[in-house]
Amino acid sequence: MIAQGLDIDTKADNLHTLLEYVRKLRAIDFNAYRPGTIKRRLHLRLSATGMPDYASYLQYIEENPKEIDALIDTLTIKVSHFFRNPFVFEVMKSFILPELIDTHRGDALRIWCAGCARGEEAYSVAILLKEVMGKEKIFPQTFILATDIDRETVEDARRAVYTTESLVEVKKGCLDKYFTVEHDFYRLKNEIRSMVTFAYHDVTTCKLPKEGIFSDYHLILCRNVLIYFERDTQERVMGSLSGSILKDGYLVLGESETIPHQLDNFYEVMPYTKAFKKRH
Ligand SMILES: C[S@@+](CC[C@H](N)C(=O)[O-])C[C@H]1O[C@@H](n2cnc3c(N)ncnc32)[C@H](O)[C@@H]1O
Repeated sequence: MIAQGLDIDTKADNLHTLLEYVRKLRAIDFNAYRPGTIKRRLHLRLSATGMPDYASYLQYIEENPKEIDALIDTLTIKVSHFFRNPFVFEVMKSFILPELIDTHRGDALRIWCAGCARGEEAYSVAILLKEVMGKEKIFPQTFILATDIDRETVEDARRAVYTTESLVEVKKGCLDKYFTVEHDFYRLKNEIRSMVTFAYHDVTTCKLPKEGIFSDYHLILCRNVLIYFERDTQERVMGSLSGSILKDGYLVLGESETIPHQLDNFYEVMPYTKAFKKRH
């Protein structure tokens, strides 16, 4: 069938074959994502490469292996900026981080940003931690892990170089303190960069029981990632992330995301914050 307006072959089996090809090659299963979003994004690559339908596009990828990186880049939406949705960062700065720092003084404090895009969110948390801990005499050793499914994005995050678009919510004092200006971009200073460890990781592969690096977190941020998944994948991922959070730890979701009913051991710390505390 040719879709009106889209002018592409929308046969489900051809889409499935294409996504299976990506899964085999890169171990990323876009079948778990919302089909509407996937089709809209795929259409961008079809237009860019001049391919009329999924089958021809698959052939194009096979002949031009580098296209797969462009496809993954398009399918994984990287919209983000420092202190995105400032309210939840205010809540973290005023309540969550001071409480966690106080409880884990002299011990370790573990934070994980899952779906970290180019590092904007993880570095925002690192800046807050630095600011909050600056006033303390004894503080915890902090470990911030930031992961993403797109390897190139992880590399960008490590480089920590940004344009003004990523910095719209950064206050002038903070910009002057933690960034250096180089030509028309901003470079994050090493004192913040070194606080974050970046790694490739696919949250849909999370499984229980947790062990190693993916266990025992006091705070997990997984914002604006789950919205792209089908409902059963959302619930599975959230169930699994919740297993990585320690009692009295926090889970912070995106503005339009919420926690499934079965995770009733979490409560929202304040209305509309999308910051949830784990009771037990
Ligand atoms: C819209 S950005 C959100 C970035 C940041 N968390 C924020 O809220 O500003 C979504 C990020 O999730 C990543 N992502 C998508 N699917 C993922 C998966 N299965 N596992 C890990 N990261 C994923 C994308 O590559 C992208 O960087």
